Amino acid sequence: MINMTEIQFGILADTFHAPVKGELTFIPDFLILVDLRGDIVATFHSDDVDYSVHLNALCDSLKLITVEKGQYLMPGLVDLHCHAPQWPQAGKGLDLPLYDWLQNYTFPLENRYSDLAFAETVYQDVTRTLLANGTTSAMYFASIHREASELLANISLEQGQRAFVGRINMDNAEQCPAFYCESSVEQSLADTEVFIHNVRGMKGNEHGLVKPVITPRFVPSCTETLLRELGKLVQHHDVHMQTHCSESDWARDYALQHYGKSDIEIYAEAGLLNNKTVLAHSIFLTDNDVAVMKEFDAGIGHCPLSNMYFANAAMHTRELLDSGVSIGLGSDIAGAPSPSIFRASFDAVTHSRVREDGVDSRLTAEERGVVGSRVSFIEAFWMATAGGGRVLNEKVGLFEKDFHFDALVIKPSAMGNLRIWQDMDTPRDILEKIVSLGQSCDIDKVWVQGKQVR
Ligand code: GUN
Ligand code: FE
Repeated sequence: MINMTEIQFGILADTFHAPVKGELTFIPDFLILVDLRGDIVATFHSDDVDYSVHLNALCDSLKLITVEKGQYLMPGLVDLHCHAPQWPQAGKGLDLPLYDWLQNYTFPLENRYSDLAFAETVYQDVTRTLLANGTTSAMYFASIHREASELLANISLEQGQRAFVGRINMDNAEQCPAFYCESSVEQSLADTEVFIHNVRGMKGNEHGLVKPVITPRFVPSCTETLLRELGKLVQHHDVHMQTHCSESDWARDYALQHYGKSDIEIYAEAGLLNNKTVLAHSIFLTDNDVAVMKEFDAGIGHCPLSNMYFANAAMHTRELLDSGVSIGLGSDIAGAPSPSIFRASFDAVTHSRVREDGVDSRLTAEERGVVGSRVSFIEAFWMATAGGGRVLNEKVGLFEKDFHFDALVIKPSAMGNLRIWQDMDTPRDILEKIVSLGQSCDIDKVWVQGKQVR
């Protein structure tokens, strides 16, 4: 019997989660016990022997939260790739290819974050919006400005969002505009070290809800010296690392022309890869690249909607899932407009279906697509939760003992489009509908680390 004084609450709910990639797990009347720190201490199925003992003890101590029938508990969503300062640009300006989009729209916008008042307004709004969309863990690119990046970390902490925040490193004067480029390797490294120290030491962050991330923007925007020096910091501080990886023809070709190597090889040789690395996009990968990722246990942040605009090719999502490489989902705001990881899940499915069918109607069906390359909504849900948690190397995305209690309650709202017909929809149908149609108005409650934040 568990000591009830050590329990913060127990929650009883019809529950979805995805312990096994590709398998649906629906547990009616699942009971989850959460301790005072917000971690899961035990879970019980209704046919477990001591289920009713714990249920009664929770009732007696007024610590039971019951989720009504017709509502569903699931793990909080994980966004592995979001550019917080690009939020004002979401939903516009996707008419240009990556290089021109960065130079014409994105760098001028990001440069505005030297203004802390502007940063405060945007960062309050983007963190709140992501939480409202069920994103309990977010990995953010901020900008090159240390103070504004620390502000983003602080705002995430205040809002109670689990966040992984990176101050961007970019020092290559040949690729970065003069107005938005770090002045030297020394300055870039010094700012990075101070940033790591300050985020780890933020008041209220004693349990590390918000973590610093080393963030070289991508190969073209960094000098080789900076990449190598940042690699040393990654090793020294044992810290998360995020970057863009082989995102488009142009980005892939840049690496090949300037280094004679792929992005992955460049990052690996610089010492940047570890078991909490997020490589956004990762479209043009060789077999060797995948082997190197697996060797370091580095993961992929798949951003399906953004890929439609910038990638110039469809991701080999099916093959990557089968290869066992770690993979989760990203919104890539604002290389794509939606802050919703349900939307990213749905896009991962539809993107793979287009790849499976092919696109040129003048070819025969046999020639047109890639047979068997589809990804299921159950796999997409896994990427959005457990897969993302695995990439981050954090105990999130599942309801299992020792995992952090990061969770959502889905309650279909008349304001949205999600409709569940209890006499017609199986649990499988219900999860498919949530992934396909779920919006922020259908997310009734959100917890992060056992604390209800919405
Ligand atoms: N590559 C380098 N910077 C960026 C960015 O801000 N967004 C995307 N999608 N790709 C990038
Ligand atoms: Fe990006």
